[in-house]
Amino acid sequence: MNETPSKEKLIPPWPKPKPYTTNIFKRLGLGWKSWLGLLNEWDFRINLGELNLLGLPVFLVNNPPLVRQILVDEVEKFPKHPYTLWILEPLIGHAIFSVNGEEWARQRRLIDQAFQVAKLRQVFPAMADATSSLLTRLKSQANNGPIDIDAEMTLVTADVIVRTILSRPLEQGEATEIFKAFARYQQQAGRALVLRFLKLPMGFLQKTLLNDAAIIRNWVQSAIEERLKVHKVTPPNPSKPIDILDCLITANDTKTKTSFSSEELVDQICFLFLAGHETSASSLGIATWLLALSPSIQEKVRSEVLEVVKNRPLTSMLTSDDIRKLQYCGAVFNETLRLYPPVSFFIRERTQDSTEFSVPDGKKQCPVGALLTLSPWVIQRHEKHWPEPNHFQPERFLEQKDCRWAKDAFLPFGLGPRKCPGAAFAQQEAILVLAELVRRYRILPVSDHKPNLTGRLTLRSTNGIKLLLESR
Ligand code: HEM
Repeated sequence: MNETPSKEKLIPPWPKPKPYTTNIFKRLGLGWKSWLGLLNEWDFRINLGELNLLGLPVFLVNNPPLVRQILVDEVEKFPKHPYTLWILEPLIGHAIFSVNGEEWARQRRLIDQAFQVAKLRQVFPAMADATSSLLTRLKSQANNGPIDIDAEMTLVTADVIVRTILSRPLEQGEATEIFKAFARYQQQAGRALVLRFLKLPMGFLQKTLLNDAAIIRNWVQSAIEERLKVHKVTPPNPSKPIDILDCLITANDTKTKTSFSSEELVDQICFLFLAGHETSASSLGIATWLLALSPSIQEKVRSEVLEVVKNRPLTSMLTSDDIRKLQYCGAVFNETLRLYPPVSFFIRERTQDSTEFSVPDGKKQCPVGALLTLSPWVIQRHEKHWPEPNHFQPERFLEQKDCRWAKDAFLPFGLGPRKCPGAAFAQQEAILVLAELVRRYRILPVSDHKPNLTGRLTLRSTNGIKLLLESR
């Protein structure tokens, strides 16, 4: 592999923060389409922001030690904010992501057990099959004008999650209907949150949220019912589960001596589908676009992949052992997650005793009931924590001298006990897809296309991500 660091100094386009305004209604108006519109330049310089939103104290927490206090050291005093449950309940019920306390702890023990059994190596063949379908689709579109890579990444990541959870590929018809429902849910959920902050009625939005959630939930429910029917004839073998659904069905919590009920299974699978495909699709689409914008970084990824595969033909795909060797490709993925974190903000609530937040430039009282916003989007582009924060430089994740960012300032998967249990799954999937792409194609930008990156539940482009693929 070529060891010389890339000389490229690329600042990829991003939705820049607006000039500072004290007019909170103007900010909420800008946040109607994309929550990134709520941010102003000042937010990327301060340690701790505070505002009063119609009586609700709201903090923007950028200071890494404070981030650690909230997400790791005093996690039980800063649970998920009730708005998290409120906005996601129609879709994921009381699934792991939005609940707290004992309800969360039991679910996390069961999910950890299921993910431990569904080892990365075990799910790899399903990932490879979905990637192979992607490559077949791309072969018929390459060398023939712009391709919407975001749509393709949405399809491949949904296919990966369906294959790993249900042991079958995603069918074209169900894909279209389900994606439309997810996209509408995301858009309306962001708007419902703005209305909720403004204490305005949102009856019409709630109705569309419920309708779209029902489309997705019915689909998941029938898949689970089908499996439970099969289990009546052939009970699952807990030591040899066929997929993640089997792992979830057979997981047993020794502390409470319970397993997931069928209602809970629907909630968890709906969440895993959302978590597992929306986030990975977002980061993979953007990572491919960044490779198109930086040819020298793309060449470095390619030489690393070629060095690992040696002279194996294209028909012999990368193995899970190969993936572990692709350090630079992994750094490209991390740098993508830094600049464009798919989950761009989390919200927590202070529930026990008021406290004093102490940051280098002062102290602030945090009362019970305050809403804390922690934003990987802001923290990972913050000028105090990252040198050249807006530059795309994967090397910063590899070279000791470049590891100068503040501890706890990189949190695309969260931090602490609630950190994403799917991180290794997502990394394996992303590296496989990116490596197989650069092996076959030169990825080029489309000159008159700029993705319109929009912050909803996840970060997505509303006009797709168009690129050219030229066969090597
Ligand atoms: C690039 C891909 C992904 C990103 C950026 C991501 C990010 C995150 C983040 C930031 C959280 C925690 C949020 C918080 O603390 O409020 C989270 C939680 C979670 N993620 Fe992921 N995720 C990704 C992929 C996946 C995949 C592939 C799966 C499963 C197949 C998954 C399953 C989960 C689960 C179950 C939780 C809830 C953990 C808990 O509350 O204890 N994620 N994810």
